[in-house]
Amino acid sequence: MNIKYDLKPESQRRAEPFKPDKPLPFGLLRTDHMFIMDYEDGEWKNPRIIPYGPIEIPPGAIALHYGQAIFEGAKAFKHDDGEIYTFRLDMNAKRMNKSADILCIPNIPEEVQIEAVHALIDVDRLWFPEQEGASLYIRPFIFATQDSLGVHPSTQYKFMVILSPSGPYYPKGFTKPIKLLITKRFHRAAPGGTGSAKAAGNYAASLQAGEFAAKFGASQVLYLDVTNTYIEEAGAMNHYHILKGGTVVIPEFTDTILKSITSQSIMEIADKIGIKAKQERVRLDDFIEAVKSGEIVEAGGFGTAAVVSPVGEYVFEDGTSVIVNNNEIGEYSKRIYEYYTGIQTGKIEAPEGWLQKVERRV
Ligand SMILES: Cc1ncc(COP(=O)(O)O)c(C=O)c1O
Repeated sequence: MNIKYDLKPESQRRAEPFKPDKPLPFGLLRTDHMFIMDYEDGEWKNPRIIPYGPIEIPPGAIALHYGQAIFEGAKAFKHDDGEIYTFRLDMNAKRMNKSADILCIPNIPEEVQIEAVHALIDVDRLWFPEQEGASLYIRPFIFATQDSLGVHPSTQYKFMVILSPSGPYYPKGFTKPIKLLITKRFHRAAPGGTGSAKAAGNYAASLQAGEFAAKFGASQVLYLDVTNTYIEEAGAMNHYHILKGGTVVIPEFTDTILKSITSQSIMEIADKIGIKAKQERVRLDDFIEAVKSGEIVEAGGFGTAAVVSPVGEYVFEDGTSVIVNNNEIGEYSKRIYEYYTGIQTGKIEAPEGWLQKVERRV
């Protein structure tokens, strides 16, 4: 790909490595530049890296009205050799195209998506946050820009990548499990819908549930399927539970569950972590029963941002609740977290192809 560089003058760019003296928030900071590419006349064209800032789109852009927009979330890490490595970006690129298919958006070859991210990180490499537990959060996204009020797939799009130097999702460390609300009032996705896509609208639709959960002191809703029988997701994470003896169980991926790269990765390396892993449909009733009986010893959520989020309590709308593992972080969850972040940060050998070095090109 022939990327055009229209960079900030050197005097306005970060000149020194970024060594924050305060804990960094997650997702709020930006780097100096962004990547942008247009889809017009049936092709992706004009890839460029320009200063981060507002862009112009028509007020009638289809994404603004009908939500034809998708995104991804990935991370890059700095290793002891001083180089920056992206983590499983090929999986994100693949999933972006799967989401694109579901929302009738033209695909972008995986290698083009990966090159876009690597070229941008290369330009803004001094923005990598040098702080314990920090990473460069990568946000690629595609949205429809055709100025049209008819409900149909757009003929024009933008693909963009922005970066956010971010602290760990839980700044106080991996110390306290979260609480989830079990409710039949909200559903994240319906069969035949967009639940398995990383579609912007799925997240707009989850806000109400999040606010409702907060009234119960819960950070998220445990989403059930539309028949309220099976466990689907833990807010914006895949749900997991761990059986006595160390078997991690993740709900089978259906078209109402996002196929988490974290979940897939943990299943791939389960034997190295010293656990077993399987997927099945998880009945809510069986789950609650098994937590109470002690057959289930730990539970939580898997996702790129937090990696592992143990759950210590499931609260119902009537105020009753069930507690998992004494509301403490369990040994298996800790072991998974440590092994996984060890791979990401280069402390533990990564499976072939999981980490890709960001080469210097400018
Ligand atoms: C709904 C939902 N489920 C699961 C995940 C976890 O997926 P991944 O591990 O690929 O980040 C995410 C987000 O990252 C999500 O938004």
